[in-house]
Amino acid sequence: MALLTWKPTCIVGVRAMDDQHAILMDTMNELRLALVAGCGREQLRERLKRLIEFTRMHFSSEERLLEESGFPGAGGHREAHRRLLAQIEEAAHRAIQHEDVQVGLLLSFLRHWYTVHHEGLDQHYGQWLNERGVL
Ligand SMILES: [Fe+2]
Ligand SMILES: [Fe+2]
Repeated sequence: MALLTWKPTCIVGVRAMDDQHAILMDTMNELRLALVAGCGREQLRERLKRLIEFTRMHFSSEERLLEESGFPGAGGHREAHRRLLAQIEEAAHRAIQHEDVQVGLLLSFLRHWYTVHHEGLDQHYGQWLNERGVL
């Protein structure tokens, strides 16, 4: 997996969400660097745990904003997060169990979901929130 880099297409226009997305990107890049440097299973487990915890926090924070503002796609967005989190947890679990074979797959999967979700579904709520004073 190449390093994730910040792109204008990832910007949603809501400060707190853009900051959280940037932290998520840093966390994934740090995980990649640790793996390239040959970190052990324990460190892999710790980093994945941190990534999952942060992702869970970000998803709830985003869902709260969407629900409080009455965003029409809030329910679908919550459901997409729920499915993603389950996939991330499963991929992380597989990587921890079978480190050698699964780490490359895990990294491609993380890169893919990060890009697709932030350039896709997360792009739909920025204007709605901005119009309701959430900047
Ligand atoms: Fe989202
Ligand atoms: Fe997001």
